[in-house]
Amino acid sequence: MNGPLDPHLFVIVGATGDLTARKLLPALHELTRTSASPMVVLGAATSDVGGDEGFRRRAADALAAAGVDTAEAAAWAAERVHYQQVAGGDYGALAGRIEDLDRAHGLRGNRVLYLALPPPVFPDAITGLGEAGLAGGPGWARLVVEKPFGRDLDSACALNEVVHRWFSEPQVYRIDHYLGKATVQNLLVFRFANPVFEASWNRDRVARVEITVAESLGVGSRGRYYDGAGAVRDMIQSHLTQVLTLVAMEAPGSMDADAIRAEKAKVLRAIAPIRPEDVVLGRYTAGEAAGAALPGYLESPGVAPGSSTPTYAALRLGIDNWRWQGVPFYLRTGKAMAERTTQVTVRFRPPPVCLFHTHDCDCVQLSDVLTLHLQPDEGFDLDIDVKAPGEAGGLRRIPLRFAYGEEFGEIPDAYRTLLRDVVEGDQTLFVHDSEVEESWRVYAPVVDADLPVHDYPAGSWGPEAAAALVDGGRWAVGGR
Ligand code: BG6
Repeated sequence: MNGPLDPHLFVIVGATGDLTARKLLPALHELTRTSASPMVVLGAATSDVGGDEGFRRRAADALAAAGVDTAEAAAWAAERVHYQQVAGGDYGALAGRIEDLDRAHGLRGNRVLYLALPPPVFPDAITGLGEAGLAGGPGWARLVVEKPFGRDLDSACALNEVVHRWFSEPQVYRIDHYLGKATVQNLLVFRFANPVFEASWNRDRVARVEITVAESLGVGSRGRYYDGAGAVRDMIQSHLTQVLTLVAMEAPGSMDADAIRAEKAKVLRAIAPIRPEDVVLGRYTAGEAAGAALPGYLESPGVAPGSSTPTYAALRLGIDNWRWQGVPFYLRTGKAMAERTTQVTVRFRPPPVCLFHTHDCDCVQLSDVLTLHLQPDEGFDLDIDVKAPGEAGGLRRIPLRFAYGEEFGEIPDAYRTLLRDVVEGDQTLFVHDSEVEESWRVYAPVVDADLPVHDYPAGSWGPEAAAALVDGGRWAVGGR
């Protein structure tokens, strides 16, 4: 059992969507199970779902689908869950309901306002909440905004402006669920609690870094949202960039939120302008992925006919600072790929002099490779050369492996960690206003550029053109 949490109302604006059912309700259920938490949940959305009772049934079904015992799911929903229809943007009615619940349950005016909405309606919803007086006291009020935060630099700045009209930055939690993954948090522990690696974590020792987030599923039923976003907005600007900054940042002065965010923002500011030749975009065609036949992206429901939205993006970035100048960072993500895997691969430079040869004098020493497996099979491998017994002069590549599962069992879902942090008021794992603006600045040359989109068959490692992006023509993960 964790420590007690402040009494509070957890308001989900856009509560009838998929995110609420799949992620938020199971995470909130877990939060109340593992901490003493006088939390009341209020779902709000435009549709009529049959009042509190109707929404409780939905909530109980969502929990049961997430593996919670049916009787427990129904009891939890009956005890804590409420619903308010917000028709025609009437946030006044929502404010009234919040006040009633607050009084009835003694919640001291504390509230989380979670925007589980499609991004285009964020500004209106934030304004509605602000005008209804929900951004301030009597207790604490925290706003949680899902990604993508904006569509480009201008829209992200405009959205920050709307947010700040009502909420101060310490009240704002821009969520990127990758930061809630234990393996992503472990990047800082790995680097700064184990100086043995940190001493080699620089341009003198590292030849290149690859970050791959490959998904084996296609866009499924999310075609409408995805077609307006694409791989760069949906994954690179957010999740891969978070991983990149944690891999590349300097040690913060302390582990507090401001110190870490400041170092991450410095990395973003040091990224050299991306040129068209540093980018390969792709779109999957019909094939077989994740063990099933998959229609091509253009045939998926919700996708505009003839759409040029990429479902794959590979980029080469340079970080112009003392630590990383000259070291290529490769970022790659795609839907309908050969495998579901998220990995960071750090290839170290080979030894300066080769002492181990085959009989015909070729060097048999390879450069060491560190692979951080962020998901699935969480853990890491360090591939090193060892002497193979009995083989004259023979060296063998051996992975030194750590597996999270063997040591710790199941890893908690990212949303559980992040929602707890929101309620505790810890912003460390959330994205700051300047950080989000910096990252859009980095990708500005890509999101609006008219670049070719190469086809790749579902179930492959992406377009062949991506091989030309990496030194030696081979990606560490999946070859091309
Ligand atoms: C979401 C994207 O943010 O992350 C999805 O919108 C993507 O398109 C998902 O599938 C990937 O998350 P995870 O945790 O499964 O790697």
